[in-house]
Amino acid sequence: MQEATGETLRPGGFTLTQKAVSFCGLTQQSRVLDVGCGRGATVSYLYENYGITAVGIDPSQKLLGIAKVKNPFATFVSGSGEALPFEKERFECVIAECTLSLMNTLHVSLQEVHRVLKKGGWFVITDVYAKHPDAIPTMENFSIHSCMRGLHHVPRLQEELEMMGFEVMLLEDCSQLLKELMVKIIFSHGSMNAFWSKTLEDETPHACCAFEQNLKACKPGYFMMILQKGERNG
Ligand SMILES: C[S@@+](CC[C@H](N)C(=O)[O-])C[C@H]1O[C@@H](n2cnc3c(N)ncnc32)[C@H](O)[C@@H]1O
Repeated sequence: MQEATGETLRPGGFTLTQKAVSFCGLTQQSRVLDVGCGRGATVSYLYENYGITAVGIDPSQKLLGIAKVKNPFATFVSGSGEALPFEKERFECVIAECTLSLMNTLHVSLQEVHRVLKKGGWFVITDVYAKHPDAIPTMENFSIHSCMRGLHHVPRLQEELEMMGFEVMLLEDCSQLLKELMVKIIFSHGSMNAFWSKTLEDETPHACCAFEQNLKACKPGYFMMILQKGERNG
């Protein structure tokens, strides 16, 4: 994956991060949490371009090790989005770039983000979604560690967040960025099928074709949603 994406492990590089910083008006003083920070690419980007010292959290020791070496100025915490080890209302902004789709219990992670955000704080989500959400349940049959297994149903996600007390301030389709990433993957691996066969835990050829077929049925896209935590207690 990294061959195609570079430092970031998501479609679009920093295009959407830059847009989010400007939309939310983040400054050096903003306390920012990057959930699922991976190799710390966004933490580096925020520091180098805006002087923002963000905190990164990720369950992968391997990725955190890389993040720490590259960003000695920043704080990285080992942990998961389902149990954020921070006091309530600690942050002005929480960023989750292509990571909510990997959470085992999404609603718990969303509640955690709500808890650690200040009132009026920003929640920036970029992630994969299904344009044909009826096909989403079939993706659960596959054993694969990829965000494609957790494609979002955007209207349902939006409804859940609004019920919690978030207000959607921006919702944008960014599927072109996913297409561009797929083209890069095809260049570096030969085909999407070859890429998925390396990623799937079930190595039989049939499993890979079935996965690709189901994925096509979902018609994956990419979106950015920016929300603000409302004044009422969620
Ligand atoms: C597709 S990568 C994106 C990494 C980073 N946000 C980026 O865009 O470069 C997904 C990241 O989510 C992390 N992750 C997986 N499960 C998680 C969880 N339950 N809580 C927090 N992060 C998780 C992975 O370790 C990985 O670093």
